[in-house]
Amino acid sequence: MGSALITGASSGIGLEIAWHLAAERNDLVLVARDAARLEETAERMRQVAGVRTEALAADLSTTEGVEAVCTRLRSQTRPIGLLVNNAGFGLGQDFVGGSVERELEALDVMVRAVLMTCHAAAPGMVMRGGGGILNVASMSALTAQGTYSAHKAWVRTFSEGLAAELRGTGVNVTAVCPGLVHTRFHERVDVDAGQWPAAAFIPPNVVAEEAVEGVRRGRVIVTPGLRYRALAGVLRLSPRSLIRRIAGPGISGRG
Ligand SMILES: NC(=O)c1ccc[n+]([C@@H]2O[C@H](COP(=O)([O-])OP(=O)(O)OC[C@H]3O[C@@H](n4cnc5c(N)ncnc54)[C@H](OP(=O)(O)O)[C@@H]3O)[C@@H](O)[C@H]2O)c1
Repeated sequence: MGSALITGASSGIGLEIAWHLAAERNDLVLVARDAARLEETAERMRQVAGVRTEALAADLSTTEGVEAVCTRLRSQTRPIGLLVNNAGFGLGQDFVGGSVERELEALDVMVRAVLMTCHAAAPGMVMRGGGGILNVASMSALTAQGTYSAHKAWVRTFSEGLAAELRGTGVNVTAVCPGLVHTRFHERVDVDAGQWPAAAFIPPNVVAEEAVEGVRRGRVIVTPGLRYRALAGVLRLSPRSLIRRIAGPGISGRG
């Protein structure tokens, strides 16, 4: 792939994807808001993996932040071979009574930024005759857990549509749909991850490996872990009325 730009690369799944790609000798552009944490991570990657690593601090909930990332993606002198749209978060609130600013922030980061960055990156990849786009969706795309599910369903369907549009161009598009993963995701919204059995969690490095391998092989949907692949099959076959009943009140928007 040569070089990859990863959003949300300062922690969790994004950080694991970055290390995985660095170990394969890809140059990296790391994107997140926390500039200090990002620079520290970039420096470690330069020293440990010996790859060229840029730290691009940007808030993807803002127009300027997304534009800075899009400008980097459009560069023809330092082309990006793989775009990883991973930045995201749980809302930690129900829709009714929750903050509308929080809703818009989630929509901007998990939908608008994904659309904008793909729109910026894909033409160059098509022109060069190759490349990859990896969008991080979620198992929640198949459920009905508030606007988070809606955003991730958008990412999943959008990726499928883009993959179909780019068939034959040499550009692969993949949506990875992880189940529970141990990262900062839950603590950031004060959700006790201890409520689920430890066995329900997939390690972030497994998600990273399966996702990157999926793009390389041209898989459009990747669900990491055998048990979650089985669960995805059950969810797809279940009546939506049952899915709605399971989602129920009280867990809407928790991720
Ligand atoms: N953990 C799970 O159980 C799970 C399951 C399925 C899907 N996912 C998805 O996986 C992706 C990664 O989440 P994670 O679990 O790795 O969580 P995480 O450890 O909290 O990492 C989230 C990353 O996104 C970045 N980010 C958040 N808001 C941003 C913004 N406005 N602009 C730029 N960067 C932003 C964060 O960096 P800064 O805070 O420094 O900006 C961080 O690097 C998300 O899309 C999430 O929805 C997670």
